[in-house]
Amino acid sequence: MTAIADQWGIHPRQFWLRGEQPEHLVEYDEQSGLWNVYGHPEALRILNDPATFSSDTSRLFSDTIDKSFNEGNLVQMDAPEHRKLRRLVSHAFTPKIVADLEPRIAGLTHELLDAVADQDEIELVADLAYPLPVIVIAELLGVPSSDRHLFKQWVGALFENRPDISLKRDSEELERELAEQMGQLQEMLDYLRDHAAERRRRPRPDLLTGLVQAEVDGERLTDNEVVNFANLLLIAGHITTTMLLGNTVLCLDLNPHQAARIRADRSMVPAAIEESLRVLSPFSLLGRSTSAEVEIAGQPVPADQLLMVWIGAANRDPRQFAHPEVFDPSRDPNPHLGFGRGVHFCLGAPLARLEGRIALNILLDRFPALRTDPDNPPTFIPSAELTGVKALPLRTRTRTRT
Ligand code: HEM
Repeated sequence: MTAIADQWGIHPRQFWLRGEQPEHLVEYDEQSGLWNVYGHPEALRILNDPATFSSDTSRLFSDTIDKSFNEGNLVQMDAPEHRKLRRLVSHAFTPKIVADLEPRIAGLTHELLDAVADQDEIELVADLAYPLPVIVIAELLGVPSSDRHLFKQWVGALFENRPDISLKRDSEELERELAEQMGQLQEMLDYLRDHAAERRRRPRPDLLTGLVQAEVDGERLTDNEVVNFANLLLIAGHITTTMLLGNTVLCLDLNPHQAARIRADRSMVPAAIEESLRVLSPFSLLGRSTSAEVEIAGQPVPADQLLMVWIGAANRDPRQFAHPEVFDPSRDPNPHLGFGRGVHFCLGAPLARLEGRIALNILLDRFPALRTDPDNPPTFIPSAELTGVKALPLRTRTRTRT
């Protein structure tokens, strides 16, 4: 995959996608004031010890950041608040509720593919991988899926071409950039706030109604908590699954022998999805802050430091994965960190896996010959924190060359 990665415009920071190994497993970056962690056992230890490695990283940035954006943001919370809020929403993602979505996901996949069935070429992201998960999560939450062009506009601006994270930036410059990002986010939050207010007036059987009616220790969630949590679900609920679908199809295209095995034996589809999450991890970076002085891989790290845990790199650590650059769906065990680990393990993992399995099976059924187009190669999202196709043109028929 190494040489090809360069043609895709992979972000320069993602050296592991070019087959390179880090110089140090843990290193302090003077320029940004951050610690980078690249190894698998090191990442695992950090994610499994939330008392020492806190998820609240915003406390290390400027005091002037508006903290209201973080109320109800599960990924930035520590115990005991994290445990309470997570318990409250986990009931919406039980195996039964998720499994019941299967017919709707299959129906939607067919509907989306019907629209492009006669075409010689499809663009997987626009035609299937983006609309499918965004419609599913919008329907679960209870916001109109026809507004998805708005979500795309708000979310796209949040992740693409972001300046590198740094604790040493000029504070005025940092605040200006944050204000710009928050402005984009604000539109999305206002949109969700209006829908939440509507649910308070007229409850419906959806997740947003569940959130406005929910109680933690006898208290209702505040408006900010409802809105920020709904926002997290809406964002996390689709951008990552879009990447998962695109990345998995790309992995199969690059490995025709494996693709043929999977086409012939569909029981291998779930393992192919897990392996895709390892080699092309949609979220490549998780942030943590140290609550105390610690030693990681023999390197002393003081308290109150910001750790960049590069799970994309950890998923290619040769100490854990033999031939880490090889896409091998038979890899067993496959302890990748694509969905994180520990108390913050991805709440939507069962839904993402289900969407991936259904969509991939239908795609393989409906298109017996699906290949990338050499004249029109895939492009990737220009971000160090994300690894995912932005566009994946695919030929749907075998062409005879003249
Ligand atoms: C392939 C798809 C997905 C990937 C790769 C992914 C990845 C992740 C990762 C790595 C984390 C851990 C964050 C941390 O430890 O700081 C996480 C957390 C989370 N994910 Fe996902 N995710 C996916 C799909 C989804 C979906 C479909 C939903 C919602 C429906 C979702 C909702 C969440 C939430 C709410 C959390 C926060 C959990 C917590 O902090 O306790 N994710 N996800």
